[in-house]
This record gives sequence, C-alpha cells and structure tokens, in this order.
Amino acid sequence: MTSNNTKPLVLVLGSTGQVGKLVVEALKQTSDVRIRVTSRKLEQVETLRQQGQDAVYLDLDDPRTFAIALHGVDKLFLVTGYTVAMLAQSKTIVDAAKKAGVKHIVHLGIFAQWDCTDPHFVWHQLIERYIEASGIAWTHLHPNVFMENLLGFLPIENDRLSMFWDNQRVGWVALKDVAAVAATILREASDRFTGKDYWLSTEVLNGEEIVAILSDVLGRKIDYVVKQPEDLQALMTSGAIPVETNYAEASVEFMRQVIDGRMGYIGSVRDDVPFVTGKPSTSLREWAIAHKESLLLSN
Ligand SMILES: NC(=O)c1ccc[n+]([C@@H]2O[C@H](COP(=O)([O-])OP(=O)(O)OC[C@H]3O[C@@H](n4cnc5c(N)ncnc54)[C@H](OP(=O)(O)O)[C@@H]3O)[C@@H](O)[C@H]2O)c1
Repeated sequence: MTSNNTKPLVLVLGSTGQVGKLVVEALKQTSDVRIRVTSRKLEQVETLRQQGQDAVYLDLDDPRTFAIALHGVDKLFLVTGYTVAMLAQSKTIVDAAKKAGVKHIVHLGIFAQWDCTDPHFVWHQLIERYIEASGIAWTHLHPNVFMENLLGFLPIENDRLSMFWDNQRVGWVALKDVAAVAATILREASDRFTGKDYWLSTEVLNGEEIVAILSDVLGRKIDYVVKQPEDLQALMTSGAIPVETNYAEASVEFMRQVIDGRMGYIGSVRDDVPFVTGKPSTSLREWAIAHKESLLLSN
C-alpha cells in the first residue's frame, strides 16, 4: 500500500491570490501530490486548517517564517505580489528552499525578452537568474497579460473599456491556463519540465478587437476608450488605484515601452500551454463566455 507521505509535497505561495488559488484548485483535481498552502494572516491559516487544508503561516517579508513552512516540501510554486519587495522576498525564500531540501521551483514570472529594461520585468529576470544559480531544479513560467485583468485592473465601466497602452496589440492568457500549466509541472514526477521556460501568450488583441468580442458575448455595445500611460500614472498618484510606488512607476514605464515599440514583442503569440497540458489554450472569446456573469456584474 502506498503511504500518503510518499507523495511529493507542493508548497503553493500566494494561494489567496488570483493565480495561486487556481493552481491549488488545479492540483486538487488529482491526488498525485500533497498540497500545502500559506497565508501571512494567522486567522486565515486557522480558517484554512479548519477546512482540512495543510495551511502554514508564511510572510515573505519575514524569513523567520520560512523554515517551518518549507519543512518536508519537495516542490515550490513561487509567486510574489506587485511590489519591488519581490526581489528580497524571492532571494530569501530561494535560500531557505535550498536549506530545506526543496527539489524543484516553479516560478511565476513575466513575458519578457532577455535584455528588456522595464524595472518590474527586470526584477523577475533577476529572480530567475538567482533561482538558476541556486542549483535547485527550476521551471520558469512567462505569462503575458492576464485576461482576468478585464475583471480587475482594467474593468468595463458603464459599457466602456479603457486601457493605457493606446490601441496597441498585446498578448493575453487565461489564468486557468496558467494554473493548468503550473499544476501539470508541479505534479510531474519526471524531470521533463526541468530547466525549461514556458511562454504563455495565447492570443494577440488590441482594445478595439477586445470590445468587439465582449460586445458580441455580452449582447451589449462596449466602447473602447483609448488611454495613455500618463492617465494610469494620475490614477495611481491620486490613490484611486492603490499600488506600491516602485511598481506603479514600473507599470507606467511598461505602458510607455509597449507604445513606443521597445516592448513590441508583448504583442506576439507564443502559446506553450498545449505543449505542457496537452490541451488547447483558451481564446478571449471562450474566456468571456465563461466569465459572462462576472463581466456583466463588474460593469
Ligand atoms: N497581472 C498580469 O497581467 C500579470 C501578467 C504576468 C505576470 N504577472 C505576475 O503575477 C504575479 C502576481 O500574481 P497574482 O496576480 O496572483 O497576485 P495577487 O492576486 O495580487 O496575489 C498575490 C499573492 O501573494 C500573497 N502575498 C503578497 N505579499 C505577501 C507576503 N509578504 N507574504 C506572503 N504572501 C504574500 C498575497 O497574499 P494576501 O492574500 O495576504 O495579500 C496573495 O496570495 C506578479 O509577480 C506579476 O508580475 C501578472
């Protein structure tokens, strides 16, 4: 009889966030691995435990919390939030993972060329190089713009969708596909995904093309309102979009570089989802149909 303890233990960071939550859901679809989730809020850890989950307290800003959370862990899904603190957080958790004997790190990064200069993208690349230097087996995920931003950061309001990169075409990916890729790699027993980069940019669309799809799916006319990086900067400075200052500056720079062509590659398709999962990736139309109710509610 196979003991439960012989199954690899996967620690999912950011499991209360939009990507981590879906990774946990995807991992739960099979019983190949044991799953440990984390929170930086003690009361949330307690609630998760009461639900029967293996939940641990872990604050990425406090490395003293890492050892117990990492004890016995075989694979780590490394997610950090939208702040420059990701640098120190990732460096310290990779060091701790090495000490704890973690065998494989799957890192959620960004869709970048190696010599890109946008600060947020650079931070992720520094983290990737640090993971590689650690000697721990790694897999880097490179998602392009999340379709879920259309329900959060870039919502439809009063039948209008605004984006801050003029009407440039950018690549989109559904979070369920990002999560399916991550979960497939985390539960894989062989080393077939080790030392590999996976590019997750399913479909390229500009604002006009997106509102055409959304209008069709939602059955009402959605207009596209062209905005510029300076409009985002004003929203962030006013506090209307609460975000850490360094990340705010980096996102405005990202929009500028998408518009002036330095990040023109953001508007390209590189769809590795089927290579990992064996299933087709989700188009924006399919995503909008699946999220129709939420899109209507957010309007
Ligand atoms: N948005 C995009 O289009 C896009 C595209 C490509 C890549 N990305 C990357 O996606 C990543 C963010 O993923 P996401 O959207 O899932 O983020 P998210 O929804 O904001 O979730 C972040 C998670 O990290 C946790 N967290 C934050 N600070 C922490 C700390 N000090 N200690 C422990 N946990 C902490 C949060 O926990 P709490 O619940 O306690 O806050 C939450 O679970 C970023 O690295 C970003 O670069 C985003």
